[in-house]
Amino acid sequence: QEAHAAEMERTFIAIKPDGVQRGLISEILSRFERKGFKLVAIKIVVPSKDFAGKHYHDLKERPFFSGLCDFLSSGPVVAMVWEGEGVIRYGRKLIGATDPQKSVPGTIRGDLAVLVGRNIIHGSDGPETAKDEIKLWFKQEELYNSPSLASSSSP
Ligand code: PPS
Repeated sequence: QEAHAAEMERTFIAIKPDGVQRGLISEILSRFERKGFKLVAIKIVVPSKDFAGKHYHDLKERPFFSGLCDFLSSGPVVAMVWEGEGVIRYGRKLIGATDPQKSVPGTIRGDLAVLVGRNIIHGSDGPETAKDEIKLWFKQEELYNSPSLASSSSP
């Protein structure tokens, strides 16, 4: 059997410095876990402003770009990769709309945030972005790979 025959969908999720500072890590993790998604990578990083610029490269022309990069690099971020059927789209549902004033109750931002510039969490917006963001934030060896997908000669 091919080592990477059945690749399960993965997305990049980050708890931003405001979410970490407010003590919302376990609250956010538990929502993804209870839904049934699987955590395959997690680490705490303080990104440089330059790195934040790479993460948000699509938004370079936006007036809030510099402030957004300053914000992401202002403290510890919990960077994660979650796996599961439909995790990219459904992860965005769990997160809620970008503007917390428009996120419905029951979503992470709807329940826990009020300002767009302090919306506590980021999630990849599509398959291409997910792939790029996972690659930007994680090395291959930092991602858990299910034994059933690994070659039989691995330990
Ligand atoms: S857009 O307009 O569709 O590109 O916006 P969106 O994709 O929803 O948001 C992209 C990221 O920019 C953040 N954002 C802002 N930050 C600060 N101020 C303002 N006004 C603002 N508008 C959007 C937004 O939170 C998205 O970042 P992430 O980290 O993905 O949530």
